[in-house]
Amino acid sequence: MKNIPHAIQYQGSKRNLASEILRYVPEKVSRFIEPFSGSAAMCVAAAARNNANSYLINDLNQPLVELLRLIIDRPTDIAVFYELLWNEQHDNSIEHYYRVREDFNQTRDPRLFLYLLARCVKGSVRYNAEGLFNQSPDKRRYGTRPETMRRNIFGVSALLKGKADFSSRDFREILLEAERTDVVYMDPPYQGVCGDRDSRYFSGISHGEFVEALHELDSRGIAYLVSYDGRRGGQTFGEPMPDSLGLTCVELAAGRSTQATLLGRNEMTYESLYLSRSLMERMERKVGGCGLQDAQQYVLLERVARYG
Ligand SMILES: C[S@@+](CC[C@H](N)C(=O)[O-])C[C@H]1O[C@@H](n2cnc3c(N)ncnc32)[C@H](O)[C@@H]1O
Repeated sequence: MKNIPHAIQYQGSKRNLASEILRYVPEKVSRFIEPFSGSAAMCVAAAARNNANSYLINDLNQPLVELLRLIIDRPTDIAVFYELLWNEQHDNSIEHYYRVREDFNQTRDPRLFLYLLARCVKGSVRYNAEGLFNQSPDKRRYGTRPETMRRNIFGVSALLKGKADFSSRDFREILLEAERTDVVYMDPPYQGVCGDRDSRYFSGISHGEFVEALHELDSRGIAYLVSYDGRRGGQTFGEPMPDSLGLTCVELAAGRSTQATLLGRNEMTYESLYLSRSLMERMERKVGGCGLQDAQQYVLLERVARYG
């Protein structure tokens, strides 16, 4: 899947892994639900494959969801606004960034957020204890050029306009709305950083609460996928998922870390993707029928080999 548009720079975006992850999503689902959507890279990639009839974009970070709503429903307005703001920066780009950041922290205007994300260090959001956005500007770049941004905004809008719903609620409320014909993809905030609050994202969640929510989904027969822990070289990060959930784990190669490359080490990073029991059952029902992808067949064969 080449040339999938993306308008929002967001650290931790699944943009580069999206096509790998979607290999494990059944072909035609009613609704593709992303409770931790971030930049909504997965919904965009799923829409490019026409994977679902509709898409639910949810993230606790309200300005981010409002920004996605604007991109999808009002592409001209947001593209024009971005261009005007971007062109303002040239007299003193750094000072301009800090002024926009202050305005954003007072107003939460999602249009300002698009510029800050394009202009800040590595598209990585950072919040202080009061919930104010406090990331610094990238001093070597001016942020995505308006022509490129416009192309991406219109690309994302063309894929999702009329098919997406938006909300900004806690993930547990969203899970309550999932139905058996839907598929839920979850990429929660990284764990193990410092308690439950991770300054990289708007809020952290506890491992225990998350696992409990997955048990609840299982009890209702909802199919889901989770990106969670991973490993680099021999070192693992994140708490593993408990066996009681009966998940099938697939490791996805996520590339070489910049740090390892700098140190001349040849270490790959792998991310775990967990597939729920109901998702596996849906795949099993398809065996012999059409529409099962190679990756799905492979994971089923592996499972049979392991558990009989
Ligand atoms: C790892 S990021 C998701 C990145 C996303 N997959 C992408 O491709 O851009 C996790 C997201 O979860 C959101 N979040 C944190 N706590 C949440 C909660 N309790 N309910 C819903 N979203 C939450 C954060 O704001 C953050 O955007």
